Amino acid sequence: MTTVAAPVAPPNPLAFKTAVREQWNRSAQGWNDHSSEIRAWLRQATDAMLNMAGVSPGAAVLDVAAGAGDQTLDIARRVGPKGRVLATDLSEAILALAQKNAEQAGFHNVQTLAADGENLPVEPASFDAVVCRLGLMFFPDPLQGLRGMHRALRPGGGICTMVFSRPDRNPCLGILMSTALKHAGLPARDPFQPGGLLSLGKPGLADELFRAAGFQNVATTALDTPFRLPTARHYLDFVRASASPIQQILGRLAPQAAAAAWAEMEQRLGVFTTADGWVGPNELLLTAAQH
Ligand SMILES: C[S@@+](CC[C@H](N)C(=O)[O-])C[C@H]1O[C@@H](n2cnc3c(N)ncnc32)[C@H](O)[C@@H]1O
Repeated sequence: MTTVAAPVAPPNPLAFKTAVREQWNRSAQGWNDHSSEIRAWLRQATDAMLNMAGVSPGAAVLDVAAGAGDQTLDIARRVGPKGRVLATDLSEAILALAQKNAEQAGFHNVQTLAADGENLPVEPASFDAVVCRLGLMFFPDPLQGLRGMHRALRPGGGICTMVFSRPDRNPCLGILMSTALKHAGLPARDPFQPGGLLSLGKPGLADELFRAAGFQNVATTALDTPFRLPTARHYLDFVRASASPIQQILGRLAPQAAAAAWAEMEQRLGVFTTADGWVGPNELLLTAAQH
């Protein structure tokens, strides 16, 4: 069996996570404001993730890195009044929105807990299923996170995580990053660097981490999940509203220099304009397993 090199955690994981928490606290409202676009984009992939984790009526489900709770609402609906969802996230601000969204939707089976996904303060073996939608790749030490999720699951319980796949299957992310770095005068970055958007995209890596964390029956499915929006400008509005690394890079530039970078991104992303609007290619990996 070949071994895929696991990402090496950043030199100061604590400082890294503090920065991530602050970024998501600042971007919480922006992510929530784009909920309907995110929901449409991830509809099929989310249904598949919940099926693969075995989220069913009456289940107790742990939703890690839950964000503003879009998938939490789907889980709450599936498990019904006899089930429960614990939505956790590093950012208190985004989790407050998840709680509010659950209340507004009339779900009484949702609880929230601000927590680092690498140190989940939950009872061992207290959940039937665990999901993590577009969160695990932000963990500087995803193996530690997976070990905690394994501990949280009862024997036989299911897990499914969703992350971005390889750079060539997610070209918009490469366009954003290379343009931002060029305008900031910074060197190219390793797309697989730990804690980055594509850090778990290397084929085989997620499976290895799951097995190392103790999971059985590990399988990864690649899912073509294009982002369909009216124009490239809409995609950039979404990027600007979320806690993307692009924001951090361009945030240090003078407004005019940053505007020039955004304009070049829009022009380069225009290549994905079709007769039916803008269709940004995206591939996601769903990794499913059992305790
Ligand atoms: C792209 S958002 C996804 C949110 C939500 N799951 C969704 O799909 O709409 C990523 C989320 O991961 C959270 N996150 C990042 N690092 C984390 C960590 N170490 N522990 C828990 N959550 C983390 C962020 O705060 C943010 O809410």
